[in-house]
Amino acid sequence: MAARTIRLASTGIWLPAKVLTNADLEQMVDTSNEWILERTGIRERRIAGDEVGVAQMGCYAAQNALEEAGLAPSDVDALIVSTATPDRLLPATACDVQAMLGADRAVAFDVGGACSGWLYALSVAHGLIAAGQIETALCVAPEKMSAITDWRDRATCVLFGDAAGAAVVVPSEEEGRGVLASYMRSDGTLAELLYRPPASTEVPVDVAEIVMRDGYIRMAGREVFKAAVRSMCEAVDAVLEQAGISKDEVDLLIPHQANIRIIEATAKYAGVPLERVWVNVDRYGNTSSASVPVSLHEAREAGLIRDGSLILMVTFGAGFTWAAMLLRW
Ligand code: COA
Repeated sequence: MAARTIRLASTGIWLPAKVLTNADLEQMVDTSNEWILERTGIRERRIAGDEVGVAQMGCYAAQNALEEAGLAPSDVDALIVSTATPDRLLPATACDVQAMLGADRAVAFDVGGACSGWLYALSVAHGLIAAGQIETALCVAPEKMSAITDWRDRATCVLFGDAAGAAVVVPSEEEGRGVLASYMRSDGTLAELLYRPPASTEVPVDVAEIVMRDGYIRMAGREVFKAAVRSMCEAVDAVLEQAGISKDEVDLLIPHQANIRIIEATAKYAGVPLERVWVNVDRYGNTSSASVPVSLHEAREAGLIRDGSLILMVTFGAGFTWAAMLLRW
């Protein structure tokens, strides 16, 4: 008998109201709307203020997803959070989301996969459900990238934004529906190309002040760009081969939203025309692991996903991490 697979019962998002445009950034650093648009495809991004923490953002997206699924917080067996921007290092952000949400029956824990984190979370949920350990998971990706962005560094501050996405994950009752294939990889030897310094346990307490001031994302943009395209193409091939599905059967490609040029290169490789690729990097920038669930939710709202639609999700992030998942809605 084939192992149980999963389907997404619902999706949810939360976006901050505050919009930061390229024109606003022109006032902050030496950049231009033309440069940002041409090199990244980003026009604006959302910024969550001090009044909302990462766990709260996750809670809002989770409530949104539970509402659509018609479930109560106490129906959740596992609450899995992916975030690169936790409010605090201990406890897991998932535990703070659990408390805010009132998901009192759930086991709550985080997975760390940077921008690939939400697909990692879905895969963990898949494993727990396939093993019969749980029935209902809530995978949540709240990201407050603005909190770890150096607003004086033009090479990175134009790229990121804040958002939260979530989905309720349940067993698939129907053969051939739900997750058909998934693929996950990492390469820790490339960690220095994209990271947030320092590794906190290596830092003596008396320099905590310095740590706070220097805890911003550092990135070798060009190397990351090349690795992102290469890895996402590899992941596309891997899931299609696993599922025995050809490129032209894909109805909708949902790539991680980091840069329009990375998206276009991946779409070209996957053989999916741009009208069947979800793009919101222009409106939100790179929201790390929130980017795929937010895109999925928006694509559903736009009517691009119907029963039976074949969706290919693919991500790349710090680590490096990369992943893909093929889903029959
Ligand atoms: N405004 C104006 N000029 C800028 C700039 C900005 N915001 N940021 C960098 N520049 C300058 C650089 O200083 C450089 O100038 P120089 O040639 O005089 O040295 C020039 O633009 C080209 O920089 P480069 O870094 O080579 O540009 P690029 O075409 O590689 O684009 C990125 C830069 C960051 C947009 C691109 O590399 C990228 O998207 N990388 C992947 C990022 C990513 O996806 N990260 C997350 C992965 S999950």
